[in-house]
Amino acid sequence: MSELALLGGKKSKSKPFPAWPQFDDTERRGLNEVLESRVWWRTPGTRTLEFEGAFARFHGARHGIAVTNGTAALEVTMAALGLKPGDEVIVPNFTFVATASAVLFANALPVLVDVRPDTYCLDPQLAEAAITPHTKAIIAVHMGGHPADLDALKDLAARKGIILVEDCAHAHASEWRGQRVGTFGIGGTFSFQSSKLMTAGEGGMIISNDDEFERQARSIHDCGRMPGEWFYSHFIYGSNYRLSEWQGVILMAQLGRLDEQTRRRHQNARWLDRELGQIPGITPQRLDERCTRNGQYAYIFHVDSKQFAGISTEGFIAAMNAEGVPNQASYPPLHELDMFRNGEYRKRLSGAQATAEHAFLRQSFPHTQRAAWETVWIPQPALLGDETDMREIVAAIRKIQANAKELAAHDTHATPVPARG
Ligand SMILES: Cc1ncc(COP(=O)(O)O)c(C=O)c1O
Repeated sequence: MSELALLGGKKSKSKPFPAWPQFDDTERRGLNEVLESRVWWRTPGTRTLEFEGAFARFHGARHGIAVTNGTAALEVTMAALGLKPGDEVIVPNFTFVATASAVLFANALPVLVDVRPDTYCLDPQLAEAAITPHTKAIIAVHMGGHPADLDALKDLAARKGIILVEDCAHAHASEWRGQRVGTFGIGGTFSFQSSKLMTAGEGGMIISNDDEFERQARSIHDCGRMPGEWFYSHFIYGSNYRLSEWQGVILMAQLGRLDEQTRRRHQNARWLDRELGQIPGITPQRLDERCTRNGQYAYIFHVDSKQFAGISTEGFIAAMNAEGVPNQASYPPLHELDMFRNGEYRKRLSGAQATAEHAFLRQSFPHTQRAAWETVWIPQPALLGDETDMREIVAAIRKIQANAKELAAHDTHATPVPARG
């Protein structure tokens, strides 16, 4: 019988990874308190307000604005920057769609730029080359929890007089030179969707140390109101992005565990770096020495299929899942999304920008392509595991490599590897 669990063999995992999301009586008690208080709504409530302050302080920011989700956090941020038709915002091509769609939401153009080959974060040199007189902002995405090069991006933004925004959806508690993410530019956005490092099922946050930006963003998230003014005064255009008290109370409890969980994930990931780095064909996402703490939304590694008898990324992922190690494929490159291919994105633009040729759609993005189609992601809950869990991840990959030829014979997407002469 085959050794591989996918082909009937015994699984590498002897026990399940920690369950996610995690909760205990703190969440139970909190939910009950909100229930009994009958104050379930953000506006008169105190729980979401308290959470905003605590989350902002945790990251070293003066302001926090809780919103409905991470996409909304980006949309409110773009609106608060006052983007207008004709403006451009630099966005990495390798990210979740929301980073780019939030720019379109503000009727501006996301200009897609390739990422670094090792950290999979926005390449500052390519970002600089993409700047035009229309560029208003850059959105850095901290991929998988690893901060983008914040020294270079902060310097670039200052030199060119443009705004730096951090999409920290993957990076709660991540640090760059000891400073927490979300505080390097005008603001940082976070997601509390269920796969994220802390969660209320859905939820989002904007943090900032810029008083004027905060005033705008807070007003936009609450129908254009201003704090302390009459409830039916609406001073600017806004919408309703408020987070409920249920989510506020859950997130406060989740925040209480974040430090310890981050320590564990970061440590386990560094152990995996050392062990997996020794397996031919496996290259973990590089940890820049200036990243002093990685929130580690996922453990990302590149698989060189030539070292695995030509098996496809899908074949590798299926074999790992069968071994009991949850893992998944990466994001597709944004420029290959239907929205960009079929021109639908132009419906959000106007004037000359709506019909102009957009050079990034004709460009090649070698590092995004490699990251998109050849990396594998182990989701963060696995990194909360113990030493046995980490050893079993390594064992699963070694087993797949040892039996790769057999796997390739069953993998309809495998690329034949020429025999060495
Ligand atoms: C990089 C990035 N930005 C933004 C978001 C949007 O967050 P949400 O799903 O809470 O809208 C996500 C969500 O997965 C993300 O991965």
